[in-house]
Parts: sequence; C-alpha cells; structure tokens
Amino acid sequence: MAVQLAKTAGICVVATASPNNHEHACALGADLVVDYNREDFARTIIDAGIRRVDSIFAPYAGHSLRGSASLVDEQTTVVLLSPEATEQDMRIGPVQTQTLIVQARGEELRRVAEFCDTGALRVELAAVLPLKDAARAQQMSATQHTRGKIVLKVVD
Ligand SMILES: NC(=O)c1ccc[n+]([C@@H]2O[C@H](COP(=O)([O-])OP(=O)(O)OC[C@H]3O[C@@H](n4cnc5c(N)ncnc54)[C@H](OP(=O)(O)O)[C@@H]3O)[C@@H](O)[C@H]2O)c1
Repeated sequence: MAVQLAKTAGICVVATASPNNHEHACALGADLVVDYNREDFARTIIDAGIRRVDSIFAPYAGHSLRGSASLVDEQTTVVLLSPEATEQDMRIGPVQTQTLIVQARGEELRRVAEFCDTGALRVELAAVLPLKDAARAQQMSATQHTRGKIVLKVVD
C-alpha cells in the first residue's frame, strides 16, 4: 500500500522485497525493486543512478535498514514502523530515525477510501479467515512474509 500511495503522490519509489515478490512490487508501481536480503542491495540502487534517497519508510529495523546507510544524509527522513526497535536499531548513518505509530483518523481514512474507490489503491488480501481461525492468522502474520492483509470474518 505504501508503494501505491507514494505513486499517487508522484514519488519515484524504490521498493525492497524478496525475489518472489519483485514482479508484484513492479505491478504496484515501484520504479525499482531490490532484494533487501542481499548485503549489497544499496549498491544496486546506486548503480541504477540513485545516489541518495529523500525518505525511507521501513517496516523493520535490522540489516535491511542498516544496509541503506550509504544512501542517506542529514536531509533524509527515516520512518520506522517497528514498535520493537531499540535505540541502536534506529541509528542509521548520520540520521536519527523516528518511529511512527499510526493512528486511525477519520479524515485520512476517508482519503484512503477515495483512493480505493477510484482504483488508485488496491488492497491485497492474503487470506479471509473465520474468527475461530484467529490463531492461524497470527501464525501467518508472524512469518513476516504474507503478501497483503489477513482478514478475520466476524459474521458470515
Ligand atoms: N507503527 C505502526 O503503527 C504499525 C502499524 C502496522 C504495522 N506495523 C509494523 O510494520 C511492520 C510490517 O507489518 P505488516 O503488517 O505490513 O507485515 P507483513 O504483512 O507481514 O509484511 C511484511 C513485509 O515486509 C517484508 N519484510 C520482511 N522482513 C523485512 C526486513 N527485514 N526488511 C524489509 N522488509 C521486510 C516482507 O517482504 P518479502 O516477503 O518480500 O520478504 C513482507 O512483505 C511490522 O513491524 C509491524 O509491527 C507498525
């Protein structure tokens, strides 16, 4: 969803994904997709002609975030979504990362709904499960590799 929203804002997007998801990220609009599992993924980005990035939107800390250090400078904004990140996780190159905890705001959700209505935003579903399978949903989510949202159906 971040890739799609960034494209609606006219931003050039470099997406990170495992190889089996590269085609998918391109289909969502990414201009370049790199495999964050490779130690030298920042080199692939530089070789594509991108010398620095304005913003990094990181779902997880760790090697994938640290590997971006050569692409940032004092002007780069780094937004980390992982609530478990330590202070050390959050230091990348010359930038001090900020964590963001998303809050549901009516006005923003209304704009997101409008993007869905116009087709600018597609919500990918990994699975729709009955509420009794909540434990299975949690196990799927814990793999950190589901593609899309897992929906729990409360009422048939
Ligand atoms: N701050 C907030 O308000 C907020 C709200 C929601 C979620 N979160 C956090 O955001 C993170 C992602 O949540 P989600 O629901 O989107 O999870 P998800 O559906 O499981 O998606 C995880 C995606 O991240 C990729 N990924 C896995 N490990 C990675 C790594 N080390 N570096 C970069 N990408 C990696 C995977 O791509 P591949 O399969 O292609 O490898 C996968 O597509 C979690 O840390 C969650 O706690 C924060």
